Amino acid sequence: MPISLHAPLDMHLHLRDGDMLSRVAPLSAHTFSGALVMPNLVPPVESREDVLQYKSRILEAIGDARFTPYMTLFFKPTYSREFLESVHDDVTAIKLYPAGITTNSEGGVSGFDVEELRPALEAMSDLGIPLCIHGETGGFVMDREAEFVPIYEKLATHFPRLKIIMEHITTKESVEALDRFDNLYATITLHHLIITLDEVAGGMLQPHLFCKPIAKRPEDREALLRVALDAHPKVMFGSDSAPHPREAKECPGCAAGVFTAPIALQLLTELFETNGASLEKLQAFVSGNARQIYHLEPQPKEVVLAKEPFTVPENYDGVVPFYFGTTLDYTVHTVI
Ligand code: DOR
Ligand code: ZN
Repeated sequence: MPISLHAPLDMHLHLRDGDMLSRVAPLSAHTFSGALVMPNLVPPVESREDVLQYKSRILEAIGDARFTPYMTLFFKPTYSREFLESVHDDVTAIKLYPAGITTNSEGGVSGFDVEELRPALEAMSDLGIPLCIHGETGGFVMDREAEFVPIYEKLATHFPRLKIIMEHITTKESVEALDRFDNLYATITLHHLIITLDEVAGGMLQPHLFCKPIAKRPEDREALLRVALDAHPKVMFGSDSAPHPREAKECPGCAAGVFTAPIALQLLTELFETNGASLEKLQAFVSGNARQIYHLEPQPKEVVLAKEPFTVPENYDGVVPFYFGTTLDYTVHTVI
């Protein structure tokens, strides 16, 4: 039986710029109705002009595909209320990176002093602009996300009207935090629902599975699966699909990022089916929850997935995808 998904949304996506943008954007635009586009370009997306120009480059790259790039700004504590009012209609969220924590995040936040952050976060609360956070400290790599949970809690407590999205959560500690604060939400990637650190480094090192945050323990993956398969109303699918050219992954100093965008819906469908989760839950996880949380009205799109074997290509124009060479159960049959 074919499966139909309506208006799938990817609430955390890296589309890059220039040549890479033109290679990867059409792949997401084919199967998704829209995506929240990350701002960690070089230089980062920091002004209204940057947002509008980047958006028009994305629209150019996708041609006539029906796809909405939901734009983000790179958070700066110095953003004034006037500035935030001026960008309010052009952005869907603002993304906060701790300084230097991942790819192109050097200009991010150092220290999380509430009073320093207050003017910008109060203004965002008043304007209803959600804050997306890459929640990792500079600690030991396996503990970085769990160590960040108290910072999430501090921000959620001091700014109770601010919608805070814990991006790409990978730990049971983050899952547990979700239900402690009304204003905490989360995105979950496909790869963190499937792999643990064992798949990355337990045998031969797998550069195409290396990402930030690094995949964690089996009990963490199980906690993520539990809320994703149940479509917990505070979690949404965000692929964190992060393309790098093959030569930047297969080298010493491998760049962080897993490229999942072109196979995400096929593999999510298989994952939900294999785990006995219903199509309604899958639909909520890949669209409904994000619509509610972000108040989105995505462009109509129906993605029909047929139960026919699909072998994941070795690369998409020089970018190696997750599960390359593996045969999946579902293929994208038609997009209406
Ligand atoms: O693995 C990652 N890659 N994690 C991030 O947070 C950033 C991303 C990228 O931009 O390459
Ligand atoms: Zn990301």
